[in-house]
Amino acid sequence: MLPLRMLEWFHLVSYAAMNSDTSWLAGLHGAVRLQPLPLRLYRRAGIEVSLLRLDELHPQVSGNKLFKLSYNLAAAVAAGHRRVLSFGGAFSNHLHALAYAGRALGLETIGVVRGEPAYADNPTLRDASEWGMHLHFVDRQAYRHKTSEQFLTALRARFGDFFLIGEGGRGELALKGCGQILECLGPDVLARTDLIGLAVGTGSTLAGLISARPGHCRLLGFPVLKGAEFLYSDVRDQLQQAGVSDPGGWRLCLDAHEGGYGRVSPQLAAFVPSFERETGILLDPVYTGKMLLGFNRLVAAGGVPAGTAVVLVHTGGMQGVRGMAKTLYDLRSAFCGALPL
Ligand SMILES: Cc1ncc(COP(=O)(O)O)c(C=O)c1O
Repeated sequence: MLPLRMLEWFHLVSYAAMNSDTSWLAGLHGAVRLQPLPLRLYRRAGIEVSLLRLDELHPQVSGNKLFKLSYNLAAAVAAGHRRVLSFGGAFSNHLHALAYAGRALGLETIGVVRGEPAYADNPTLRDASEWGMHLHFVDRQAYRHKTSEQFLTALRARFGDFFLIGEGGRGELALKGCGQILECLGPDVLARTDLIGLAVGTGSTLAGLISARPGHCRLLGFPVLKGAEFLYSDVRDQLQQAGVSDPGGWRLCLDAHEGGYGRVSPQLAAFVPSFERETGILLDPVYTGKMLLGFNRLVAAGGVPAGTAVVLVHTGGMQGVRGMAKTLYDLRSAFCGALPL
């Protein structure tokens, strides 16, 4: 089988649109690496931990983005839309992936960006713009009202009709796509997995996994936002909107945010390159770095019983690291404590 990164992603999406079934995902099993993590910390704790390398799926539409976008774009194409609009921050992995996928599918894309037009020059938005995304900047206050009818009507008056994808890709179709992440593990691995961990932003990826998890397999989400207790009810709302009743078996680790969204602590800045030295795997400090540091702290504190088989999900996001090198270097130099590795 061809490694998935050699396939053109839009073929998968078009195929899904045409067939409106999920058999195309069968091709993912075996193409996505499940990489064992040989850390001393895990050996001492007597646990087995592997990383599901969704970051390797595609150079531009990596990690959870393929799953969040596939049904959305399939629905847009199937309904005859020519234009897709979505929302995100100035370094949004979602807008970056959407811009690429939109171009691949011949769709016009509009990114409503929280922040100043000066951000248009950052590497994320520069790529998006080169791939044809029209960037529309709104200030933070206006952005808060992005889901209101009034705001959407004003956008329609300005840009014409469009297919709407929620912020960061959130929504029922994203949840449906993310439920299929578990299919990458294959039935045998899934049957012997006790715990799955992942980084949480909007909670759509977690909600998708909750909707598809087998009863024996618990889920642990690591929110990257500070004060993310609201996600307990928000994730339940997302499940309800998708017609899924919450089966339980999941929880959030609320102290892995390292200061809040987009913030990096000195320990996190030191952890990411040390993890890379130990495993050869790159993490981003915004999502997957926080998940792994949070999980490792939990293990070091004895919070994961011996014998547990764990899969952590690498949800991608490496494009967002560009431009952060100096900040990370400065922060890392300020850290002199021990790292859980
Ligand atoms: C790289 C990466 N990991 C994890 C997440 C969290 O996903 P979600 O917003 O579905 O919780 C995001 C945001 O979409 C992301 O960009």
